[in-house]
Amino acid sequence: MENAARKKVMLSGIQPSGDLTLGSYLGAIKNWAERDEEFDNYYFMADMHSITVRQDPAALRRRTLEQLAQYIACGLDPEKNTLFIQSHVPQHAELGWVLNCYTMFGELSRMTQFKDKSAKNSENINGGLFTYPALMAADILLYQPDYVPVGEDQKQHVELCRNIVQRFNGIYGDVFKMPEPYIPKVGARVMSLSDPGAKMSKSDKDPNGSIYLMEKPEDILRKFKRAVTDSDTENCVRYDPTNKPGVANLMTIYSAVTGKSFDEIEQEFAGKGYGAFKPAVGEAVVETLRPIREEATRILGDKAYLESVYRAGAQKASYVAEKTLRKVYKKVGFVAR
Ligand code: TRP
Repeated sequence: MENAARKKVMLSGIQPSGDLTLGSYLGAIKNWAERDEEFDNYYFMADMHSITVRQDPAALRRRTLEQLAQYIACGLDPEKNTLFIQSHVPQHAELGWVLNCYTMFGELSRMTQFKDKSAKNSENINGGLFTYPALMAADILLYQPDYVPVGEDQKQHVELCRNIVQRFNGIYGDVFKMPEPYIPKVGARVMSLSDPGAKMSKSDKDPNGSIYLMEKPEDILRKFKRAVTDSDTENCVRYDPTNKPGVANLMTIYSAVTGKSFDEIEQEFAGKGYGAFKPAVGEAVVETLRPIREEATRILGDKAYLESVYRAGAQKASYVAEKTLRKVYKKVGFVAR
């Protein structure tokens, strides 16, 4: 039967609201790229989500295309993954509206991301910022995925999506497949270089905390040399995330880019201290990012190719999304077009 052979479906998106970081790569995209045989994958630039916070239009456009080029350069083969721009697939907005009507004010009010973002953008607490999780649920449910790989900060939104599925299916029958958040077994959680208590973030205001995928080698090296290690007097490379979070973060990064275990790293730097360790991590990261930066730059120069990728991606995505949307429209009582 066709269904038995069906690959599991995986879907995720990243907002083009800041330049992709080493954290985006090691924590997410690298793992996505390793799964393209096993799963049927959809990955998109969540540009519609980005405008919940005011954006410079030219910068948003540039970052959206850069993000696509970087996905490909990180190893996401457009032949094996459906790569698309959210706003190119109108079904997201359409299902988003319907799901807004099945999402409760109280549920939305409890979202910690909404509380954080409205505190940070108190001059622009708009409706989109509030109902964002209903659009995110639409992003997910249009493709009936089995798994949604997300970071810790998005788990609450996936949980809300699951509540919507339960509510909607409870009224109309089995319309949506119940998605599971997917927390990869491997995959590094990369913290800020200047504040190892916070996640490395593409929207961090402190540029020294984040390493960007397109960053120049000399800037990368400088940031690693300045990275916050710990105020203990030990000056010894040892994995102890509680007492030495800065060193643990650098070890996580070094391990992710070299494949070495923490034990091997401790041996390599035994008796050498942070003065030798920090530049070594910087060098290893530079070598990991070099081919990605070069390939992304090459792809960005080939506008016709990029365009062909996002057009084909939108067409494929739209075909799948439309099937789900039709079913939903019928269920809720809209007259067929
Ligand atoms: N909200 C996610 C973020 O800010 C991005 C996103 C939008 C997403 N739609 C999604 C992630 C659907 C997974 C699935 O990181």
